[in-house]
Amino acid sequence: MKDILSAPFMVEMVRTTNNMYAHGWDERNGGNVSLLLDEGEVGEYLDLTQVLRTIPTGFAAPQLDGKCFLVTGTGKYFKNVQFAPEVNLGIVRLTKGGETAELLWGFADGGQFTSEFPAHMMSHMARLAVDAANRVVMHCHPANLLAMTYVHSLDEREFTRTLWQMCTECIVVFPDGVNVLPWMLCGTNEIGEATAEKMKTARLVVWSQHGIYGAGRDLDETFGLIETAEKAAEIYMKIAHLPRLNTITDEQLHLLEGRFGVRGREGFLD
Ligand code: 13P
Ligand code: ZN
Repeated sequence: MKDILSAPFMVEMVRTTNNMYAHGWDERNGGNVSLLLDEGEVGEYLDLTQVLRTIPTGFAAPQLDGKCFLVTGTGKYFKNVQFAPEVNLGIVRLTKGGETAELLWGFADGGQFTSEFPAHMMSHMARLAVDAANRVVMHCHPANLLAMTYVHSLDEREFTRTLWQMCTECIVVFPDGVNVLPWMLCGTNEIGEATAEKMKTARLVVWSQHGIYGAGRDLDETFGLIETAEKAAEIYMKIAHLPRLNTITDEQLHLLEGRFGVRGREGFLD
């Protein structure tokens, strides 16, 4: 067996959680990440017949039965992941239609996966139905996106258009736009179901007065997606109280669509 701490998926996860902390997106235990693993690859590092313990999930996820995920632990601080990956991260395999998680590695202090496991697994199901290559669901608390949900309309078209207008390349990075949930109680199946519903039409879902969810094909891409939206929100928060003399027009956004071969979300541009 190879050393799991040197596995590319582990190295990437440690780097990503560390980088998320460095960006100020994950104070204390804020945020959580899940990465769908290739079973063949995991098998090079772990004996897949050795289950350390089982943990009930509290929901069904039949499409994910048998799938393995590397996931952050509940109550764990992203700033500590690099120093003790086996305590702060775990590898679980879903069984019994997703209602049970088998712990294959990690959560070494007796811990368990993030309290947002329902939102993660339900979002994986939703995104995989749209894009079979989706592997990552990422949640964090970036300050400017959060701030925006206090002062900006939560209408998805309006919210998306504002972000697209803040940096030229936003429409290229997230042409599908941003979906928005109102404030809801976190850590529940209900917010998980609502998030997954929103994930059907966009890879970014804002949780008002809480944070954001992103989904993508790898950790870098998903990090970059949130990074781009957060940068746009930062610019909005810098200018929102000032008279706007210039902006990126819908005509210019259409030019970007043509230049980069993307199509903005149906009906979001005039
Ligand atoms: P966990 O520590 O359970 O991952 O929760 C953090 C969080 O951001 C909840 O929304
Ligand atoms: Zn959160």
